[in-house]
Parts: sequence; structure tokens; C-alpha cells
Amino acid sequence: MSKVMLEARGLTKYFDVPGGKLHAVDHVDFVIHEGETLGLVGESGCGKSTTGRLLLRLLEPTEGEVWFDGENITTMPLKDFRKYRSQMQIVFQDPYASLNPRMSLSEIIEEPLIINRIHNNAADRAKRVRELMDTVGLAQRLLNVYPHELDGGRRQRIGIARALALKPRFIVQDEPVSALDVSIQAQILNLMDDLQDEFKLTYLFISHDLSVVKHVSDRIVVMYLGVIVEMAESQDLFDRREHPYTQALLSALPVPSVDIETRPILLKGEISSPINPPDACRFAGRCPYKQELCDREEPKLREIHPGHWVACHFAGNLVQTEDIIVGGQVVAAEEGEDIDIQELARQEVAPEEDILTEEAAEVEPEDIIEVEEAKSEETIITK
Ligand SMILES: Nc1ncnc2c1ncn2[C@@H]1O[C@H](COP(=O)(O)OP(=O)(O)OP(=O)(O)O)[C@@H](O)[C@H]1O
Ligand code: SF4
Ligand SMILES: [Mg+2]
Repeated sequence: MSKVMLEARGLTKYFDVPGGKLHAVDHVDFVIHEGETLGLVGESGCGKSTTGRLLLRLLEPTEGEVWFDGENITTMPLKDFRKYRSQMQIVFQDPYASLNPRMSLSEIIEEPLIINRIHNNAADRAKRVRELMDTVGLAQRLLNVYPHELDGGRRQRIGIARALALKPRFIVQDEPVSALDVSIQAQILNLMDDLQDEFKLTYLFISHDLSVVKHVSDRIVVMYLGVIVEMAESQDLFDRREHPYTQALLSALPVPSVDIETRPILLKGEISSPINPPDACRFAGRCPYKQELCDREEPKLREIHPGHWVACHFAGNLVQTEDIIVGGQVVAAEEGEDIDIQELARQEVAPEEDILTEEAAEVEPEDIIEVEEAKSEETIITK
């Protein structure tokens, strides 16, 4: 594995809100290696964007540190941090909202060059703008058009060109394709992949969409209500799916086989509040494996296979008390029966063996919280 470029150590952000402190990101630890794509996934409001912004020092952490190239950039004076800032950029979900509607395409791409005094004369800057347009696949005839005249894919290409203008080494991609049509998504993902090879870029790729994250990531971090619940190499995460929340998230993905019929795991129960959370597992309110310990002790992230980290008291040894839900299927457990959930997960239960317990069948729609939350939930982000 290549060397560590970026490291989050106990990174924490609490927001003061009516009622107390909202634990948006709570003591997260992870590293990003040079040249890799680290996927960051989880449902709306779990702290993905806040984590990305903390890494770039667009937000000051409540606690914890970010290290870049072996330097603590969190406490560094701003004048020293400047040289790192140009190396770390961000691409946003909604390119339209992040582009000034009164500026032409060339002015938008030129702006970071002017602000950072990259080229002192206009001719050099114009040359660099045209180069960047070529790099991201924007035709030169679009030089003087305005954002509203372009489709979503082209607007996202402008966002990428701006991010590349300062020749960064690390880019936070915050839901870069979520607002785009599926056909355009693939083009932008391919472009970012090519750029990563060409410029040896390192990415943090944020998305609520696991199928996209799986496609682009070397390793994946799964967040839930401000904490990391699972972290592993991409294929390992999909093969083992140790944390109950990850199991539910993955069950919502289509299986590439007509022989296996799966359905999303429907998580019952209440989502805990991120405001002043107690010392308990944050997933306990929705977890089918919950035990008494889960309500009184927060599970720590621990390495249960090499490179595979899970925050669950019973990871690797999950036994469900009521319905067993595996690989998108609900399976009944006899009372007192020990069930090897890992073994079941590997077997992919066939449809005819799928037993939907009476209790599960009777769940009222309002008791069911779909894993894939509505995207429309409002999120407040301030600079
Ligand atoms: N400036 C702020 N003030 C108060 N609360 C905030 C602020 N910014 C974010 N939050 C809260 O912090 C939590 C994490 O927000 P964040 O935007 O990081 O989530 P996210 O995982 O990126 O969600 P989404 O998928 O919707 O973009 C949410 O509960 C959000 O409402
Ligand atoms: S710690 Fe307990 S409640 Fe939390 S995920 Fe594990 S079994 Fe479920
Ligand atoms: Mg976000």
C-alpha cells in the first residue's frame, strides 16, 4: 500500500443547536493513502460533508486533528497552511449552486488562477483556461457561455476544471454525480478516473449511493450518525458486510443474477438523535441484533480481520433475537437457536427458503424506515 497522505485523528465537529450539541462528526479516525480513492458512504445527515470540509479546513474541528504529508494542518498558522490549501480541493454535488451565474465559463475557471496569483498576465491565464477545458472535455466554443446555458454534466465539468486549476493532489468529491442523469454520471465518473491516473490524484469520494461508491473506491468507510461503523477494502466490505447497518445498506443494492431474488432489509425502530447522544451504540434503535450492552456502552471501532474495522460489540458473532435478516432476506430463528449469521450471509438464501415471519409481515408502513433515506432531507451547511 502506498504511503499515507492524509490522516484524521479523533476528528470531531459538534454544532451548537437548540437542545444541545449536535454531534455531526464524533471522534473519527482514518487514513487516506496517496493515489487511492476512499469512499465515504452513509445516509443523509450522517456527517459525510462535514468530514470532507474538516479535512480541507473549511470548518474548524471541535476536537481532533488532520495530518497532511506528515504535518498537522489543523493547528498550523493560516499563512503556513496556504501552500496546502491549493493542494486540497473540493467538487460539489450541485455545480449550478456553486457557480456564479453572472460569470462566463472562462471567467469561472480563471477565477482561482487570479485569486491565487498563479499567472500574472492575462494571456497565460487564458492559455491555462483553454488547457483546463480540454482536460475536462469542454469544447472551446463554450468559452463565453454562462452556466444556465449548459446541461448538468457540462456544469460539473466546469466544477472539476476549477478544482484542477491549482494542480491539487487531493480532491474531496462531495456527491459529484448525485444530481446528474444516470448516462451523464458514467461520463463524469470515467472522467474523474482518467484524471486520477493522469495527475496522480487522491480522492475522498462522498456518496449516499453504495453502487457508485463501490464502483470507484479502493476502500470504503461507512458512517452512521457521526461515527464510523465499518471500514474495509471495497471488495472485502461487500463480501463480509460485518456491521448490521452495512448489511442493511448493501441489501438495497440489486444483485447481478436473475437466480437470486433479494429485497431490501427494512430497518424498524427509531433513529437516535445526534443531539447529545448517550454512551450507547447509535444504531441500537434500529438494530435487529441489539443486546442490553448496546444501550449502555458505545462500541469502539476494532480490527476484526486485517484491514477490516467494525464498531459493533458483537461483530463477527451476531445472533439475532427475533427475525434474522440476511442478504436482503428475512429468516426465522427458533427460540434459543444459535444462528451463524456470517455463514448465512455467505450462503445467499434462495427465495423458496425465505421465511417471512408473521411479525415482519405485519409491520405497518409507518413503522418501516427505508434504508435509502429520501434525498430531500434538508441539510444545513455553512462555510
Ligand atoms: N452549520 C451547521 N449547523 C448545525 N447543524 C449542522 C450544520 N452543518 C451540518 N449540520 C448537521 O450535521 C449533521 C451532518 O451533516 P452533513 O451535511 O455532514 O451530513 P451528510 O452526511 O453530508 O448529509 P447529506 O447526505 O444530506 O449531504 C446533520 O445533522 C446536519 O443537519
Ligand atoms: S453494538 Fe449492538 S446495537 Fe450496535 S450494531 Fe452491534 S449489535 Fe447492533
Ligand atoms: Mg452532504
